[in-house]
Amino acid sequence: MKKIMLPAFVFATVIFGAFILNTAYKNAPIVGEKELPEQVKSIIDQSCFQCHNADSQNEKAREALDFKAIDELGKVKKITTLKEIAEVIEKGEMPPKKFLEKFPEKKLTEEQTKIMADWSKKEIDTLLGK
Ligand code: HEC
Repeated sequence: MKKIMLPAFVFATVIFGAFILNTAYKNAPIVGEKELPEQVKSIIDQSCFQCHNADSQNEKAREALDFKAIDELGKVKKITTLKEIAEVIEKGEMPPKKFLEKFPEKKLTEEQTKIMADWSKKEIDTLLGK
């Protein structure tokens, strides 16, 4: 019995290590600025980022969502946030109406809406390991 303990232990360590590495890799930031698809980044820059960033004057917006900090969120919170993003975009709730009255050009086009919604859903699937 003792003879197989060491190899079994080494084997288990290797498997466990590989599993941890794999998980760490899978959870690598995918929403980070660098990793954002170009189109998604430009939509966020154009229509969302001025309110949703850490230095935003808009306290409510800043608390609701800071795009730069998405990566630092835990997995569950990240998924919830991505779901909210897809939701507000598809319902046309963001950018807010009042803001669009002043800056109508910031309204998302149908194509941009689809790009953003598809992106958030794809990120969610990736996080869920689908
Ligand atoms: C003019 C500033 C402004 C812009 C631009 C803006 N938002 Fe917001 N956003 C807000 C405010 C304010 C809130 C808080 C809403 C509330 O509490 O009613 C919010 C809340 C949210 C929330 C959280 C919703 C919830 O249910 O709590 C999400 C997600 C969001 N915004 C996404 C976006 C996205 C995506 C864009 C770009 C397409 C965007 N926002 C553009 C001001 C803005």
